[in-house]
Amino acid sequence: MLKLDLSKLKGFISQAQLQVMAGELADAHQKLYDPTAPGADFTGWTHLPEAYDKKEFARIQQTAKEIQQHSDVLVVVGIGGSYLGARAALEVFPSRGPEIYFVGCSLSPNELNKVMAKVEGKRWSINVISKSGGTTEPAIAFRLFRDLLVKQYGPEADRRIYATTDKAKGALKTLADANGWETFVVPDDVGGRYSVLTAVGLLPIAVGGSDITQLMEGAHQAMVRFDQRSMDNPVWQYVAARNLLYRQGKKIELFCSYEPSYTFLGEWLKQLFGESEGKDGLGLFPASAQFTTDLHSLGQYIQEGERNLFETVLYVDDTGFDLDIPYSNDNGDNLNYLAGKPLSFVREMAFQGTLSAHFDGGAPSLVLRMPQMDVSTLGELFYFFELSCGISGHVLKVNPFNQPGVEAYKKNMFALLGRP
Ligand code: PA5
Repeated sequence: MLKLDLSKLKGFISQAQLQVMAGELADAHQKLYDPTAPGADFTGWTHLPEAYDKKEFARIQQTAKEIQQHSDVLVVVGIGGSYLGARAALEVFPSRGPEIYFVGCSLSPNELNKVMAKVEGKRWSINVISKSGGTTEPAIAFRLFRDLLVKQYGPEADRRIYATTDKAKGALKTLADANGWETFVVPDDVGGRYSVLTAVGLLPIAVGGSDITQLMEGAHQAMVRFDQRSMDNPVWQYVAARNLLYRQGKKIELFCSYEPSYTFLGEWLKQLFGESEGKDGLGLFPASAQFTTDLHSLGQYIQEGERNLFETVLYVDDTGFDLDIPYSNDNGDNLNYLAGKPLSFVREMAFQGTLSAHFDGGAPSLVLRMPQMDVSTLGELFYFFELSCGISGHVLKVNPFNQPGVEAYKKNMFALLGRP
């Protein structure tokens, strides 16, 4: 169960200030269930851990088993919300089944070529994911990989393509129906960046061998626990704190962790908050860092640069594996004072030391602490941040569920490409 520690906000935000936010929080939270609120058509994710399509869920589990049996490699095609959640989960819990590669999230021929080399001579399948069914990057990648699949398998290729898209509309749905591909649905009322607990995230995660029932259970526990309408709710505390800090001029939220395999959780968080809040000239800029790695790069800025940021630290006590530091006869590296100590102890001291240093330097931290990271905790974490983001968007008085700004680059690109 995750715990929020606000002790490193002392002197930046008082208990009284947090309490004053209660009214705003109550209104913002209620807006997620108000059919007249901005973005009300895209709040299906709020009840997803309970009200998901059980038949489709069973089909996802069954399909995952099939893919595990007939494929050595799964190529997942998608961008933004159609890949980041699954990728984040698979970095934390690497596939125990087929190798899983993500494409369609850039326009880099080099990246595509690398994955093309990975499928050569292998048994493989494609999971193409696009809610709209027409996003350029994944559409191009899918065209290229479908071509390869057909060259290798002929008509059998159609039984190796799994399409996750809208239930009725879009180019991908039309193609899937015409070719008889197995399809999974992105619900109408769930936007891309809130879709990790739909087939968008669930199918690749299940192919990787993680128990998606546990993932949903963790999210369900979070759904019940964080529905509490008071300042005792960690979601309310987090949202209140980050908005108060923003109002004090802390314009950057730096998501930090101490595990390199959580890097893509940081990417998922950047998309979730960046697309949900960054509009109408408002919003915290979400950034991410990996400690202690980035303490030797960004650390200088965090400690002494412009005082415009705070940290949200994801800290997991037991990451599942530990190493004891050995004794050395010559002690040439002067590390014998640590001999016999587990590496996790050194990490904990680095974490505590960093928190205090950054606090003293004017960069306060919120700490989300978890005893361990299992699939259920990840479900809890996904829901914690989705709910926080939805509520926070309403505190900011923006629509947290649209992304009109994403269209600008596409418009220019299509004009330059001469799209008919
Ligand atoms: O959160 C969002 O809605 C976006 O980031 C989308 O997920 C992203 O643009 C991909 O869209 P689509 O799934 O329609 O290809």
